Amino acid sequence: MTATQESPTAAGSGANASQSFKAAASTRDVADTPPERVAAIVTSILQGVHGAIAEHDVTYPEFQAAKAWLMEVGEGGEWPLFMDVFVEHAVEEQVAKAQTGTKGSILGPYFLPDQTRLSSTCSLPRRDDEQGTPLVLEGQVRDTGGTPLAGSEVDIWHADSDGYYSGFAPHVPDGNLRGVVVTDEEGRFAIHTIQPAPYQIPHDGPTGQLIEAAGWHPWRPAHLHIQVRAEGHRPITTQLYFAGGDYLDSDVAEATKPELVLDPQDDGTGTRRSTYDFELEPVQG
Ligand code: DHB
Ligand code: FE
Repeated sequence: MTATQESPTAAGSGANASQSFKAAASTRDVADTPPERVAAIVTSILQGVHGAIAEHDVTYPEFQAAKAWLMEVGEGGEWPLFMDVFVEHAVEEQVAKAQTGTKGSILGPYFLPDQTRLSSTCSLPRRDDEQGTPLVLEGQVRDTGGTPLAGSEVDIWHADSDGYYSGFAPHVPDGNLRGVVVTDEEGRFAIHTIQPAPYQIPHDGPTGQLIEAAGWHPWRPAHLHIQVRAEGHRPITTQLYFAGGDYLDSDVAEATKPELVLDPQDDGTGTRRSTYDFELEPVQG
C-alpha cells in the first residue's frame, strides 16, 4: 500500500459515513418501538454496563476515560463505523434466524444508493490504471424454489486493491468499483472487477485508539459487498470472502460465514473466476 497524504482519515471516513447514513431514507424511519420495549432493551444494556463495572472493579479514572472516549467517538463522527464493526453482526444474526435463502452479512457503512446500472455481463467502473488481479464473479439469482429471477438487481460495491472505498476515500473517484448489475432472462450475471484488499478500520481516531488499547487488530478480510433485490422477494444484503485470505478467521467485524467464502481459480490468463448463486425468499401475500 502506498501511504500518501491522500490517505483517508478516520474523521474524513466517519464524516462521510455519517452523512451517508443520515441521507438514507430507511434510517430515518421511526423504529416504532413501544415504551415497554424501549425500557426493557435499555435496562438490559445498562445492566450489562453495570455488570461489567462490578465484574472488573472499574475505577473512577477508568469511568472518566470512558466518558472522554465516548465524546471523542461522537465528535469524530465515528459512530457509524463503530456500530457497524462491533454491533451490526449481532443484529444481522438475530434477523437471519427468520430468513431462508442465501446467508446474509452486515451492510457496513459504505453502501451508496443509486449507482450506475449495468447489463448482466459487465465490468464495474474503474480507473484507467486500476491496480489488482482481475476477478470475475458469475452466477444466477433464483427464488428459494429454484425459479430464475430475470431482471433482478445485483448491487455490488467493494474496496480497491489498497482497501479503500469510493465515496469515502477522497482519492478514489465517485462510483469506482460500484454498480447495480441487472440479471439476464435466465437470472444470470457475470461481473468483471478486480480483487479487493483486506480493509483496515481507519486507525487514527478514537476507534483505532480503543483497538490499540485493547491489543486487538483493526482488519477485515477482503470482501465483496452485495445486495440482491428482486420484485416480490425479500432483498438480501451479504458479503463474499476469499478462501485462504488474511483475517478470514479473525474479522474485527465478526461478519464472515463459511457459506460466504469464494475460492476463485485462475483461468490460465491471470484472471481469477468464481461462481456464486443467490436465492431469494418470496414475500408472502
Ligand atoms: C466497516 C467497513 C467495512 O468495509 C465493512 O464492511 C464493515 C464495517 C467500518 O469501518 O465500520
Ligand atoms: Fe466493507
